[in-house]
Amino acid sequence: MSFIVAIDGPAGTGKGTIASLVSKRFGFLNVDTGAMFRCVTLEIIRRKIELHEIEKIEELLSQIEISFKEESDGQRVFLNGEDVSTEIRTKQITDIISEVSKIPQVRGRLLELQRDLAKGQSIVMEGRDIGTVVFPNADVKIYLDASAEERTRRRIRQNEEKGIKMSYEEVLESVIKRDKIDSEREIAPLRKADDAILVDGTNMSIDECADVVYKIIEEKM
Ligand code: DC
Repeated sequence: MSFIVAIDGPAGTGKGTIASLVSKRFGFLNVDTGAMFRCVTLEIIRRKIELHEIEKIEELLSQIEISFKEESDGQRVFLNGEDVSTEIRTKQITDIISEVSKIPQVRGRLLELQRDLAKGQSIVMEGRDIGTVVFPNADVKIYLDASAEERTRRRIRQNEEKGIKMSYEEVLESVIKRDKIDSEREIAPLRKADDAILVDGTNMSIDECADVVYKIIEEKM
């Protein structure tokens, strides 16, 4: 029987790291849905499509394949077979991704792909609407939160590891702006599901957060 863990929350809470730790500990497939929205955004930019050109976006959506592979240095993301793990994290993508994520056709297609990934296997999936929309019947729902300042500091550290340079102010502004668009959009906004367990990681290390999440999963299993 497959087991589904949904982890939602705003940018920079450590969802990605926690999901990766959970996937290793329990042997679940790890799916980063933000990376899927990033792949679509990258392809829109590469094809020089404007966000109102819906027919072109629909065509693109019918032509993309996204897959994940766990490697020793972390998870890699493939767009039509090409490793785009680094390219999808650039500021150019982050600047417009919340606008791309509002497009109903984009959400509809990614919803199908996300549900397909869970067929017949246990997964941990992280994003914004996993517990509310993608898997409303998930076995475990976690809503990870932290203050905007703490999330900004974490994003900066992550960026540094990836060789991306952005100032504190620039990242904080981007985090706050993205949270606002993500939680105010009409379709599948960022929201804690009523039955999700809130984990506030502001004053916790990633390992402490992961321990809390492991316990919640173990109790359910
Ligand atoms: O997790 P992330 O920062 O890589 O996500 C990037 C953006 O993708 C986020 O600002 C909103 C969008 N997103 C979404 O709308 N729904 C999801 N399930 C995951 C991400």
